[in-house]
Amino acid sequence: MEFKRKLNIFTLIAAVLLVLTSCKDSKETYQEKSFFTINQEGALERPKDYRTWIYVGTPVTPNDMNNGKAAFPELHNVYIDPVSYQFWKKTGTWKDGTILIKELVSVGSKAAVSGNGYFMGEFIGLEATIKSSKHFPNEPGNWAYFSFTNPKGNLKGVSTAFKTNQCNACHNASAADDFVFTQYYPVLAAAKGVGENIIPENASKRIATVKEEPKAGKWEASVPTPENLTLEIPLGKEQLFKYLKSGKYKAYTNKETELHPSLGPHQKLGLPVRVYMNDIITNSLKSKNEEHPLGSVIVKEMFTADNKPNGWAVMVKTHEKTDGGNGWFWYEVTDDVNPNHTAAIGNGVEGCVGCHTIGTDMVRTAFPLK
Ligand code: HEC
Ligand code: HEC
Repeated sequence: MEFKRKLNIFTLIAAVLLVLTSCKDSKETYQEKSFFTINQEGALERPKDYRTWIYVGTPVTPNDMNNGKAAFPELHNVYIDPVSYQFWKKTGTWKDGTILIKELVSVGSKAAVSGNGYFMGEFIGLEATIKSSKHFPNEPGNWAYFSFTNPKGNLKGVSTAFKTNQCNACHNASAADDFVFTQYYPVLAAAKGVGENIIPENASKRIATVKEEPKAGKWEASVPTPENLTLEIPLGKEQLFKYLKSGKYKAYTNKETELHPSLGPHQKLGLPVRVYMNDIITNSLKSKNEEHPLGSVIVKEMFTADNKPNGWAVMVKTHEKTDGGNGWFWYEVTDDVNPNHTAAIGNGVEGCVGCHTIGTDMVRTAFPLK
């Protein structure tokens, strides 16, 4: 008897659980779901699962572009709750009950194989803004602003709203769409009022110019190298190799003081390299010229992991004009014994130019040399 009663209670509990879970999953409940909780004191409880929402963008206002003292020096990852995103797509306006989260991430490394930049470091803070006529009837636009950041440790569990002039006023004055800085979130700008059934990431045009893939002869010269130039470095395949092997370029006055790990890609990431520059390019870099003069020479020594010579990469300006890389002579050999192990030789080598165009007139090493 006892056993049977227990069984019944279990069945009952199971049935209740089933009903509860199916309710939670049903569409209505989801649509009405609130993504935040305001407690009895009117403070916001910290939302816990915002990384499963819609990610809309990452603005950054780094210190070194703001005289060393940016108001918000970190990267800001911004998220919006998924229901308000759908509403925004459908109507182009913010639903009463919208919440946006701004996750603060410190600037970490400023260099990667792809170039110099601002790469994300660590999570350092969390802010939020909510539009709610019920909770914030007196705030402009019914938007209230919060911070869970705690400089001394873990994020705070709750946050009370800032005063209107601390946050709301600036958003009111400068944000593109009703207090939200959609001008910096292309995900939201593209979705604004497009309609419920349109997926903006499929419909949106990609207007940035897409560079054509280099043709088959990516590592070959695309224009001839001028003859009869009087340069301090010879450009013929055999003579150039001999010149490099002789180490004559080591007399260039401007050189990196020691081997340092390459940022790639000439070497496997981190293998040692050392750069030498002749006077012509050195003076030109000093005067911050947009194009470097004919006769500029840069030699980059490459080494194996145990610091044995392993070839050279060379750039020589053979024209006054850069002409999309055709005005530079490009050379790379991946061996210090066999001159036939050339990866490239000639003017306007597309494979080299493709990566070097993001430098100042093709030069990518930071100047002055370290
Ligand atoms: C001087 C103007 C200014 C002030 C003051 C300001 N913000 Fe912002 N806020 C911005 C700008 C600009 C952006 C978008 C770009 C960015 O994040 O750097 C932004 C973005 C945000 C976002 C992401 C959602 C959105 O609306 O775009 C949140 C959340 C936010 N701020 C919270 C705060 C809080 C909290 C305060 C007060 C402590 C505050 N803001 C004060 C200018 C301001
Ligand atoms: C994938 C991108 C990439 C390609 C392809 C590339 N380079 Fe570079 N190159 C770099 C970067 C980045 C640096 C500076 C950082 C480093 O090496 O540590 C550099 C540096 C150099 C330097 C030292 C002077 C300078 O500009 O900073 C020379 C010389 C050079 N490359 C020659 C070449 C030649 C010749 C080729 C073609 C055979 C070539 N590069 C192809 C990315 C590239």
